[in-house]
Amino acid sequence: MSEPVQTPQTFTPRIFSGIQPSGGLTLGNYLGALKRFVEKQGQGIETIYCLVDMHAITVWQDPEKLRQQTREGAAAFIAAGIDPARSILFNQSQVTAHAELAWIFNCVARMGWMGRMTQWKDKTAGKNAEAESLGLFAYPALMAADILAYKTTHVPVGEDQKQHLELTRDIAAKFNHDYKVNFFPITEPVIEGAATRVMSLRDGSKKMSKSDPSDQSRINLTDSAEAIAAKIRKAKTDPEPLPETLEGLKDRPEARNLVNIYAGLAGRTAEDVVAEFAGAQFGSFKPRLADLAVSVLAPITTEMNRLMADPAEIDRILGEGAARADAISRPILEQVYDIVGMVRSRR
Ligand code: TYM
Repeated sequence: MSEPVQTPQTFTPRIFSGIQPSGGLTLGNYLGALKRFVEKQGQGIETIYCLVDMHAITVWQDPEKLRQQTREGAAAFIAAGIDPARSILFNQSQVTAHAELAWIFNCVARMGWMGRMTQWKDKTAGKNAEAESLGLFAYPALMAADILAYKTTHVPVGEDQKQHLELTRDIAAKFNHDYKVNFFPITEPVIEGAATRVMSLRDGSKKMSKSDPSDQSRINLTDSAEAIAAKIRKAKTDPEPLPETLEGLKDRPEARNLVNIYAGLAGRTAEDVVAEFAGAQFGSFKPRLADLAVSVLAPITTEMNRLMADPAEIDRILGEGAARADAISRPILEQVYDIVGMVRSRR
Protein backbone atom coordinates (compact mmCIF):
# COMPACT_ATOMS: atom_id res chain seq x y z
CA MET A 1 0.00 0.00 0.00
CA SER A 2 1.37 3.38 -0.85
CA GLU A 3 1.20 6.36 1.48
CA PRO A 4 -1.52 8.89 0.73
CA VAL A 5 0.05 11.76 -1.16
CA GLN A 6 0.22 15.05 0.69
CA THR A 7 -1.23 17.99 -1.14
CA PRO A 8 -0.02 21.09 0.68
CA GLN A 9 -1.57 24.43 -0.19
CA THR A 10 1.65 26.23 0.56
CA PHE A 11 5.23 25.19 -0.01
CA THR A 12 8.32 25.76 2.08
CA PRO A 13 10.42 28.38 0.30
CA ARG A 14 13.43 26.80 -1.40
CA ILE A 15 15.91 28.20 -3.93
CA PHE A 16 17.46 26.15 -6.74
CA SER A 17 19.49 27.18 -9.76
CA GLY A 18 21.94 25.69 -12.22
CA ILE A 19 24.71 26.54 -14.65
CA GLN A 20 25.91 24.41 -17.56
CA PRO A 21 29.56 23.36 -17.45
CA SER A 22 29.70 23.51 -21.25
CA GLY A 23 32.56 26.03 -21.28
CA GLY A 24 34.24 28.50 -18.96
CA LEU A 25 31.92 30.86 -17.10
CA THR A 26 31.49 34.42 -18.33
CA LEU A 27 30.81 37.79 -16.74
CA GLY A 28 27.19 37.23 -17.90
CA ASN A 29 26.96 34.05 -15.80
CA TYR A 30 28.56 35.88 -12.89
CA LEU A 31 26.34 38.97 -12.88
CA GLY A 32 23.13 37.30 -14.06
CA ALA A 33 23.43 34.24 -11.85
CA LEU A 34 26.41 33.45 -9.63
CA LYS A 35 26.67 36.78 -7.81
CA ARG A 36 22.98 36.59 -7.07
CA PHE A 37 23.21 32.97 -5.89
CA VAL A 38 25.70 34.17 -3.29
CA GLU A 39 23.38 36.99 -2.16
CA LYS A 40 20.61 34.44 -1.54
CA GLN A 41 22.68 32.50 0.99
CA GLY A 42 22.02 33.02 4.66
CA GLN A 43 18.55 34.53 4.21
CA GLY A 44 16.93 31.64 6.05
CA ILE A 45 15.94 29.82 2.85
CA GLU A 46 17.64 26.63 1.72
CA THR A 47 19.81 27.23 -1.36
CA ILE A 48 20.67 24.43 -3.81
CA TYR A 49 23.08 25.02 -6.70
CA CYS A 50 23.90 22.61 -9.45
CA LEU A 51 26.36 22.17 -12.31
CA VAL A 52 24.06 20.71 -14.90
CA ASP A 53 26.39 18.31 -16.67
CA MET A 54 23.50 16.35 -18.21
CA HIS A 55 22.25 19.52 -19.89
CA ALA A 56 25.75 20.10 -21.26
CA ILE A 57 25.74 16.84 -23.25
CA THR A 58 22.66 17.87 -25.24
CA VAL A 59 25.41 19.06 -27.59
CA TRP A 60 28.55 16.94 -27.87
CA GLN A 61 31.20 17.53 -25.20
CA ASP A 62 34.69 16.15 -25.04
CA PRO A 63 34.50 13.86 -21.94
CA GLU A 64 37.79 14.99 -20.41
CA LYS A 65 36.94 18.66 -20.96
CA LEU A 66 33.48 18.20 -19.50
CA ARG A 67 34.95 16.76 -16.30
CA GLN A 68 37.45 19.61 -16.14
CA GLN A 69 34.80 22.27 -16.77
CA THR A 70 32.49 20.77 -14.15
CA ARG A 71 35.26 21.02 -11.56
CA GLU A 72 36.16 24.50 -12.77
CA GLY A 73 32.50 25.51 -12.49
CA ALA A 74 32.40 24.22 -8.92
CA ALA A 75 35.60 26.14 -8.15
CA ALA A 76 33.98 29.29 -9.60
CA PHE A 77 30.92 28.86 -7.38
CA ILE A 78 33.05 28.49 -4.26
CA ALA A 79 35.47 31.26 -5.24
CA ALA A 80 32.54 33.61 -5.86
CA GLY A 81 31.26 32.95 -2.34
CA ILE A 82 29.07 29.84 -2.36
CA ASP A 83 29.79 28.12 0.93
CA PRO A 84 29.25 24.35 0.57
CA ALA A 85 28.32 24.20 4.24
CA ARG A 86 25.51 26.75 3.85
CA SER A 87 24.36 25.79 0.33
CA ILE A 88 24.08 22.43 -1.36
CA LEU A 89 26.53 22.36 -4.29
CA PHE A 90 26.69 19.36 -6.62
CA ASN A 91 26.67 18.17 -10.21
CA GLN A 92 23.43 16.96 -11.71
CA SER A 93 24.45 13.49 -12.91
CA GLN A 94 25.26 12.37 -9.35
CA VAL A 95 21.62 12.73 -8.29
CA THR A 96 19.49 10.39 -10.36
CA ALA A 97 16.15 11.99 -9.43
CA HIS A 98 16.83 14.61 -12.12
CA ALA A 99 16.87 12.12 -14.99
CA GLU A 100 14.05 10.04 -13.55
CA LEU A 101 11.71 12.99 -13.05
CA ALA A 102 12.68 14.34 -16.48
CA TRP A 103 11.29 11.18 -18.04
CA ILE A 104 7.98 11.67 -16.29
CA PHE A 105 7.92 15.30 -17.42
CA ASN A 106 8.70 14.19 -20.99
CA CYS A 107 5.35 12.45 -20.76
CA VAL A 108 3.59 15.50 -19.26
CA ALA A 109 5.01 18.22 -21.53
CA ARG A 110 3.73 18.53 -25.10
CA MET A 111 5.83 18.56 -28.28
CA GLY A 112 4.33 21.92 -29.22
CA TRP A 113 5.53 23.51 -25.96
CA MET A 114 9.10 22.45 -26.65
CA GLY A 115 8.94 23.55 -30.27
CA ARG A 116 7.99 27.06 -29.18
CA MET A 117 11.07 27.56 -26.98
CA THR A 118 13.07 30.46 -28.41
CA GLN A 119 16.37 28.85 -27.34
CA TRP A 120 15.51 25.75 -29.36
CA LYS A 121 14.56 27.98 -32.32
CA ASP A 122 17.75 30.06 -31.98
CA LYS A 123 19.98 27.02 -31.67
CA THR A 124 18.47 25.38 -34.75
CA ALA A 125 18.04 28.56 -36.84
CA GLY A 126 19.63 28.06 -40.25
CA LYS A 127 20.56 24.48 -39.32
CA ASN A 128 18.99 21.12 -39.91
CA ALA A 129 16.86 20.67 -36.77
CA GLU A 130 16.40 17.00 -37.68
CA ALA A 131 20.08 16.46 -36.98
CA GLU A 132 19.98 17.92 -33.45
CA SER A 133 19.84 15.58 -30.46
CA LEU A 134 16.50 14.60 -28.97
CA GLY A 135 18.00 15.77 -25.67
CA LEU A 136 18.39 19.32 -26.97
CA PHE A 137 14.69 19.38 -27.87
CA ALA A 138 13.59 17.88 -24.54
CA TYR A 139 16.08 19.98 -22.54
CA PRO A 140 13.44 22.20 -20.82
CA ALA A 141 11.73 19.11 -19.33
CA LEU A 142 15.03 18.17 -17.67
CA MET A 143 15.32 21.74 -16.40
CA ALA A 144 11.79 21.52 -14.96
CA ALA A 145 12.84 18.25 -13.27
CA ASP A 146 15.93 19.94 -11.76
CA ILE A 147 13.70 22.54 -10.20
CA LEU A 148 10.70 20.46 -9.18
CA ALA A 149 12.68 17.49 -7.80
CA TYR A 150 13.19 19.82 -4.82
CA LYS A 151 9.72 21.43 -4.96
CA THR A 152 11.64 24.65 -5.55
CA THR A 153 9.68 27.84 -5.06
CA HIS A 154 12.23 30.41 -6.33
CA VAL A 155 14.77 30.22 -9.15
CA PRO A 156 17.30 33.04 -9.61
CA VAL A 157 18.32 33.24 -13.29
CA GLY A 158 19.25 35.68 -16.03
CA GLU A 159 16.64 37.04 -18.44
CA ASP A 160 17.33 34.37 -21.10
CA GLN A 161 15.93 31.59 -18.89
CA LYS A 162 12.53 33.24 -18.36
CA GLN A 163 10.71 31.20 -20.99
CA HIS A 164 12.10 27.92 -19.64
CA LEU A 165 10.77 28.86 -16.22
CA GLU A 166 7.35 29.60 -17.67
CA LEU A 167 7.44 26.11 -19.16
CA THR A 168 8.38 24.70 -15.75
CA ARG A 169 5.26 26.35 -14.35
CA ASP A 170 3.17 24.87 -17.16
CA ILE A 171 4.57 21.39 -16.49
CA ALA A 172 3.89 21.69 -12.74
CA ALA A 173 0.35 22.91 -13.38
CA LYS A 174 -0.41 20.19 -15.93
CA PHE A 175 0.97 17.48 -13.62
CA ASN A 176 -1.11 18.79 -10.70
CA HIS A 177 -4.18 18.98 -12.93
CA ASP A 178 -3.79 15.61 -14.69
CA TYR A 179 -3.25 13.74 -11.42
CA LYS A 180 -5.64 15.88 -9.36
CA VAL A 181 -3.03 16.82 -6.77
CA ASN A 182 -1.46 20.02 -5.52
CA PHE A 183 1.94 18.41 -5.42
CA PHE A 184 4.30 20.74 -7.25
CA PRO A 185 4.64 24.45 -6.50
CA ILE A 186 4.25 26.98 -9.29
CA THR A 187 7.82 28.25 -9.20
CA GLU A 188 8.68 31.95 -9.30
CA PRO A 189 11.57 33.10 -11.49
CA VAL A 190 13.77 35.65 -9.72
CA ILE A 191 15.26 37.94 -12.37
CA GLU A 192 16.64 41.00 -10.66
CA GLY A 193 19.50 43.49 -10.56
CA ALA A 194 21.09 45.75 -13.16
CA ALA A 195 22.67 43.01 -15.27
CA THR A 196 20.03 40.37 -15.99
CA ARG A 197 21.08 40.35 -19.65
CA VAL A 198 24.75 41.11 -20.21
CA MET A 199 25.40 41.64 -23.91
CA SER A 200 28.40 40.82 -26.11
CA LEU A 201 31.22 43.40 -25.96
CA ARG A 202 31.35 43.32 -29.78
CA ASP A 203 27.64 43.47 -30.61
CA GLY A 204 25.02 45.04 -28.31
CA SER A 205 22.24 42.98 -29.87
CA LYS A 206 23.76 39.62 -28.90
CA LYS A 207 23.92 38.03 -25.45
CA MET A 208 27.37 37.55 -23.91
CA SER A 209 27.85 33.80 -24.20
CA LYS A 210 30.45 31.11 -23.61
CA SER A 211 29.60 29.68 -27.03
CA ASP A 212 30.31 32.89 -29.02
CA PRO A 213 33.20 32.13 -31.41
CA SER A 214 34.86 35.48 -30.57
CA ASP A 215 36.70 35.50 -27.25
CA GLN A 216 36.74 39.32 -27.47
CA SER A 217 32.94 39.29 -27.09
CA ARG A 218 33.07 38.12 -23.49
CA ILE A 219 34.95 38.35 -20.22
CA ASN A 220 35.76 34.90 -18.84
CA LEU A 221 36.13 34.31 -15.12
CA THR A 222 39.57 32.87 -15.92
CA ASP A 223 40.79 35.99 -17.81
CA SER A 224 43.86 37.82 -16.48
CA ALA A 225 43.59 41.43 -15.31
CA GLU A 226 45.36 42.53 -18.54
CA ALA A 227 42.94 40.58 -20.73
CA ILE A 228 39.92 42.04 -18.91
CA ALA A 229 41.24 45.60 -19.29
CA ALA A 230 42.08 45.07 -22.99
CA LYS A 231 38.64 43.61 -23.77
CA ILE A 232 36.87 46.52 -22.08
CA ARG A 233 39.14 49.06 -23.84
CA LYS A 234 38.24 47.51 -27.20
CA ALA A 235 34.53 47.05 -26.40
CA LYS A 236 32.28 48.52 -29.06
CA THR A 237 30.71 51.87 -28.13
CA ASP A 238 29.52 55.00 -29.92
CA PRO A 239 31.13 58.46 -30.11
CA GLU A 240 28.57 60.17 -27.83
CA PRO A 241 29.33 60.94 -24.17
CA LEU A 242 27.27 59.33 -21.41
CA PRO A 243 23.86 61.00 -21.11
CA GLU A 244 22.26 62.67 -18.07
CA THR A 245 19.60 59.99 -17.66
CA LEU A 246 18.95 56.37 -18.66
CA GLU A 247 16.44 57.56 -21.25
CA GLY A 248 19.42 58.84 -23.27
CA LEU A 249 20.74 55.25 -23.63
CA LYS A 250 17.56 53.98 -25.27
CA ASP A 251 18.97 53.39 -28.76
CA ARG A 252 22.57 52.88 -27.68
CA PRO A 253 22.73 49.14 -26.82
CA GLU A 254 26.54 48.94 -26.47
CA ALA A 255 26.69 52.00 -24.21
CA ARG A 256 23.76 50.73 -22.18
CA ASN A 257 25.48 47.37 -21.78
CA LEU A 258 28.66 48.89 -20.32
CA VAL A 259 26.59 50.97 -17.89
CA ASN A 260 24.65 47.86 -16.83
CA ILE A 261 27.88 45.92 -16.34
CA TYR A 262 29.29 48.73 -14.21
CA ALA A 263 26.09 48.82 -12.14
CA GLY A 264 26.03 45.02 -11.77
CA LEU A 265 29.64 44.88 -10.62
CA ALA A 266 29.22 47.80 -8.23
CA GLY A 267 25.88 46.54 -6.87
CA ARG A 268 24.26 49.85 -7.86
CA THR A 269 21.41 50.81 -10.17
CA ALA A 270 22.03 51.86 -13.78
CA GLU A 271 20.31 55.22 -12.99
CA ASP A 272 22.83 55.85 -10.29
CA VAL A 273 25.79 55.07 -12.57
CA VAL A 274 24.50 57.33 -15.35
CA ALA A 275 23.98 60.14 -12.86
CA GLU A 276 27.58 59.80 -11.66
CA PHE A 277 29.15 59.68 -15.14
CA ALA A 278 26.78 62.11 -16.96
CA GLY A 279 28.73 63.88 -19.72
CA ALA A 280 31.80 61.61 -19.47
CA GLN A 281 33.37 60.19 -22.63
CA PHE A 282 33.83 56.44 -22.96
CA GLY A 283 37.56 57.12 -23.05
CA SER A 284 37.36 57.98 -19.36
CA PHE A 285 34.50 55.64 -18.39
CA LYS A 286 36.12 52.48 -19.78
CA PRO A 287 39.26 52.60 -17.57
CA ARG A 288 37.03 53.07 -14.53
CA LEU A 289 34.94 50.08 -15.61
CA ALA A 290 38.08 48.00 -16.24
CA ASP A 291 39.43 48.84 -12.76
CA LEU A 292 36.13 47.87 -11.18
CA ALA A 293 35.89 44.63 -13.16
CA VAL A 294 39.44 43.64 -12.22
CA SER A 295 38.90 44.49 -8.55
CA VAL A 296 35.82 42.25 -8.43
CA LEU A 297 37.01 39.40 -10.66
CA ALA A 298 40.73 39.07 -9.88
CA PRO A 299 40.22 37.69 -6.34
CA ILE A 300 37.70 35.18 -7.73
CA THR A 301 40.12 34.05 -10.44
CA THR A 302 42.96 33.69 -7.92
CA GLU A 303 40.78 31.63 -5.58
CA MET A 304 39.52 29.48 -8.47
CA ASN A 305 43.11 28.67 -9.44
CA ARG A 306 43.93 27.76 -5.86
CA LEU A 307 40.92 25.44 -5.63
CA MET A 308 41.64 23.86 -9.01
CA ALA A 309 45.01 22.72 -7.72
CA ASP A 310 43.15 20.18 -5.56
CA PRO A 311 40.54 18.48 -7.77
CA ALA A 312 40.04 15.66 -5.24
CA GLU A 313 38.76 18.21 -2.72
CA ILE A 314 36.34 19.63 -5.32
CA ASP A 315 35.08 16.11 -6.06
CA ARG A 316 34.62 15.51 -2.34
CA ILE A 317 32.52 18.69 -2.00
CA LEU A 318 30.40 17.75 -5.04
CA GLY A 319 29.88 14.23 -3.69
CA GLU A 320 28.81 15.50 -0.30
CA GLY A 321 26.43 18.02 -1.92
CA ALA A 322 25.00 15.24 -4.10
CA ALA A 323 24.26 13.08 -1.06
CA ARG A 324 22.39 15.98 0.56
CA ALA A 325 20.51 16.73 -2.68
CA ASP A 326 19.60 13.07 -2.99
CA ALA A 327 18.18 13.01 0.53
CA ILE A 328 15.73 15.79 -0.45
CA SER A 329 14.81 14.71 -3.96
CA ARG A 330 14.51 10.93 -3.49
CA PRO A 331 11.43 11.01 -1.21
CA ILE A 332 9.79 13.59 -3.50
CA LEU A 333 10.43 11.34 -6.50
CA GLU A 334 9.03 8.31 -4.68
CA GLN A 335 5.83 10.26 -4.07
CA VAL A 336 5.72 11.15 -7.77
CA TYR A 337 5.99 7.47 -8.69
CA ASP A 338 3.09 6.73 -6.36
CA ILE A 339 1.02 9.53 -7.85
CA VAL A 340 1.50 8.32 -11.43
CA GLY A 341 0.75 4.71 -10.52
CA MET A 342 4.07 2.85 -10.54
CA VAL A 343 4.37 -0.26 -8.37
CA ARG A 344 7.17 0.42 -5.87
CA SER A 345 7.79 -2.81 -4.01
CA ARG A 346 11.60 -2.75 -3.91
CA ARG A 347 12.06 -0.47 -0.85
P1 TYM B 1 23.42 28.76 -18.66
O1 TYM B 1 24.41 27.76 -18.26
O2 TYM B 1 23.35 29.18 -20.09
O3 TYM B 1 23.60 30.06 -17.79
C1 TYM B 1 23.65 29.99 -16.37
C2 TYM B 1 23.02 31.21 -15.75
O4 TYM B 1 23.68 32.39 -16.23
C3 TYM B 1 22.71 33.27 -16.78
N1 TYM B 1 23.32 33.96 -17.91
C4 TYM B 1 23.30 35.28 -18.09
N2 TYM B 1 22.79 36.27 -17.34
C5 TYM B 1 22.95 37.52 -17.79
N3 TYM B 1 23.60 37.83 -18.95
C6 TYM B 1 24.12 36.87 -19.73
N4 TYM B 1 24.76 37.17 -20.86
C7 TYM B 1 23.99 35.52 -19.31
N5 TYM B 1 24.39 34.32 -19.82
C8 TYM B 1 23.96 33.39 -18.96
C9 TYM B 1 21.57 32.39 -17.21
O5 TYM B 1 20.36 33.12 -17.32
C10 TYM B 1 21.54 31.36 -16.11
O6 TYM B 1 20.83 31.84 -14.99
N6 TYM B 1 19.19 26.08 -18.76
C11 TYM B 1 20.13 26.79 -17.92
C12 TYM B 1 20.74 25.93 -16.84
C13 TYM B 1 19.76 25.21 -15.99
C14 TYM B 1 18.97 25.76 -14.95
C15 TYM B 1 18.25 24.67 -14.40
C16 TYM B 1 18.85 27.05 -14.43
C17 TYM B 1 19.48 23.88 -16.06
N7 TYM B 1 18.57 23.55 -15.10
C18 TYM B 1 17.36 24.86 -13.35
C19 TYM B 1 17.95 27.22 -13.37
C20 TYM B 1 17.22 26.14 -12.83
C21 TYM B 1 21.26 27.32 -18.78
O7 TYM B 1 21.55 26.82 -19.84
O8 TYM B 1 21.96 28.32 -18.18
